[in-house]
Amino acid sequence: MKAVSMSDNGAPGDLSELPQVLIAAFDALRSGAQDRRSAFHTPVFSSLGLDGRPLSRIVVLRAFDPDQRRLRFHTDLRSDKIEQIRHDPRVAITFYDASMKLQIRCDGLAVLHDDDELSTMAWDTSQRMSKICYGTEPAPGNVIEQADAFVLPSDPDSIATGQNNFCAVVTQVTTLEWLWLGHQGHRRARFTWDGNGHAKAVWLVP
Ligand SMILES: Cc1cc2nc3c(=O)[nH]c(=O)nc-3n(C[C@H](O)[C@H](O)[C@H](O)COP(=O)(O)O)c2cc1C
Repeated sequence: MKAVSMSDNGAPGDLSELPQVLIAAFDALRSGAQDRRSAFHTPVFSSLGLDGRPLSRIVVLRAFDPDQRRLRFHTDLRSDKIEQIRHDPRVAITFYDASMKLQIRCDGLAVLHDDDELSTMAWDTSQRMSKICYGTEPAPGNVIEQADAFVLPSDPDSIATGQNNFCAVVTQVTTLEWLWLGHQGHRRARFTWDGNGHAKAVWLVP
């Protein structure tokens, strides 16, 4: 696949065709997962609260699989978002890169992986610093008497126990909306996939 540059200051050029836009969007998501300095590395993940309210927070994008259209981040099984996803798996993930003037909004269904091959691989390849957080006591989100009234594990055995709280959240994207703020005019496109993986692509008024 040919990479498409987002740095063009004029008309979008290559980005005047919808298939090229999708390639560029997938490239941006791929580098968001791989490059810690990419603005796409820390998107906003939104779920539905148990009372139907939208709830959003920043997460670290760990992986993007363009063939399956799957985005992955990691979280603590004890965090509030887990119960929300179990209750209603419809979620949204929003990215913005100010240097590219590019917003990507994804929505789809989230699947929790907490005791399978994927979660084991994700845990095994996590940094020690990341693993430590999963051993925090009491659990994330608990009310505490003082700001530092919690403990993190320090010895290897208790750090390893944190795996019991580790969860990989994988969202399969069903709609992707791309918005590029070009100097010569904004461009907006939407891609929607049906259950068979067939995509419908349209331009939208920005
Ligand atoms: C830069 C940054 C990266 C974060 N990465 C994650 C992450 O990958 N996974 C996660 O669960 N929370 C992450 N957080 C914390 C969440 O934003 C949120 O505070 C936490 O997950 C609790 O959310 P919840 O109570 O809605 O479940 C991150 C926060 C920041 C500021």
